[in-house]
Amino acid sequence: MAHDKSKPQVLVIGPGMITWLQILPSLYHLQNQGVIGEIEIAGTRCSTMKTLFEDAGLKKGFPGQSFKMYPDFRSADANKTYRDAYKEPLKKLPPRQCVVVALPDQMHYPIIKEVLEHDQHVLTVKPFVLKYNEAVELEQLARKKGLVVGIEYHKRFDDRNFIARKRYRSGQFGELKAGQARLIEKYWYKHSNFQNWCTCDQTDAFTYIGCHYVDLVAFITGLKPVEVSVYSKPEPWPNGRLGYLWTDARVVWENGGVLSVVNGFAYPDDGPGGNTQGMMLWTEGKEKAGLIDHHDQFRGVKHSIMKAGSDPGDTIYMETNPDYFQLLEKGGRALTPVGYGFRSIEYIVKAIARAEHATAGLSEKDALAKRQALLDEYDREGIMATPKNSSYNELVVEAGRLSITNGGRIAAIEYGEKPRAYLK
Ligand SMILES: NC(=O)c1ccc[n+]([C@@H]2O[C@H](COP(=O)([O-])OP(=O)(O)OC[C@H]3O[C@@H](n4cnc5c(N)ncnc54)[C@H](O)[C@@H]3O)[C@@H](O)[C@H]2O)c1
Repeated sequence: MAHDKSKPQVLVIGPGMITWLQILPSLYHLQNQGVIGEIEIAGTRCSTMKTLFEDAGLKKGFPGQSFKMYPDFRSADANKTYRDAYKEPLKKLPPRQCVVVALPDQMHYPIIKEVLEHDQHVLTVKPFVLKYNEAVELEQLARKKGLVVGIEYHKRFDDRNFIARKRYRSGQFGELKAGQARLIEKYWYKHSNFQNWCTCDQTDAFTYIGCHYVDLVAFITGLKPVEVSVYSKPEPWPNGRLGYLWTDARVVWENGGVLSVVNGFAYPDDGPGGNTQGMMLWTEGKEKAGLIDHHDQFRGVKHSIMKAGSDPGDTIYMETNPDYFQLLEKGGRALTPVGYGFRSIEYIVKAIARAEHATAGLSEKDALAKRQALLDEYDREGIMATPKNSSYNELVVEAGRLSITNGGRIAAIEYGEKPRAYLK
């Protein structure tokens, strides 16, 4: 197929759970809407590519739509692991298309760097990277080349958080004093691929999923985190590797407010939602108290069906979240993704497409200057998380890792000329 220059081609690196659940159906819809062109997906194993390629739900929901895959399970050696399969399509991509990075947390830094060096815009799942200096390095590399890097913190696109942000920033809540957040994934995650990468030496439950609520509190309040301590006792995954499967984190903010975040991999498989999650923030103003109470799992929907589905964690009684990501029949040939999971992907892909549309026909020098001005705009607006406007997340991850690997000691974050995290 000839490349239609008006639409970015998309290469997804990482064919795992998040790609299957949220990214690929979103991309199919954007393809149907004429926003993006061809889709390619790179993984490491034939079996994973086959599962995704032949997924009955996606085939039925998006008839006739497909992707080019690396390795191609129909011809590649099923016994081999192709760690470098993404290199070929990456090399072949025309400059400044869209590369989606959906890899285990610790692989984000080296691969995003390589993608930027290949002159490609990036949409990456959170957490961006695990070290502040890496974030700065990638931000500078992207800026030099005028490349958009959007970090997919999809909770930002849940309208309840936009509402809280607007009210908080107009002073209606007063200021944050204390908060509690939780996000516990279902127990079956223990038997998934997570046991291969979410290990003590690399990452932990707080880094993997707690970062959502840290980012959200910063997104809503505009406050910066200044101190982190994370307690966890290493426990074995089913394959025997040790992981920080339960984490209890305390994040102190620049105004003295404190947020406690509990994360883990043990929400009962028979529980009625995909996980359990929510956030309560207590605030104080002049002679008054305020409150932000978000039930992010139970959203008022209770369904009970005859037979549970066949995916892990499927239940008969469901408290379905209609707001995150659903594929619905809304007319037309294919299903329509709805929810903040889709809106978040759409927002970033469109921010990338805009950088190209806005500069079409300009000289290379003018186009670069204009793309860089657009990066400034995205950084300043703070709606899409970028390496620059959300680097407090890397500092929290770094401080969190320092703390968790040192028995929960307090790690402080220093801003200014050379921001850093250090053990107190
Ligand atoms: N709520 C969220 O925002 C959310 C939810 C889930 C996952 N995530 C993030 O998405 C990322 C992936 O998570 P997941 O749930 O899909 O995990 P996963 O383990 O299901 O998938 C990771 C995939 O990456 C592939 N991979 C590893 N090395 C590769 C390489 N060299 N080339 C190509 N593919 C390679 C693996 O084969 C696997 O298919 C993580 O960073 C995670 O934190 C975010």
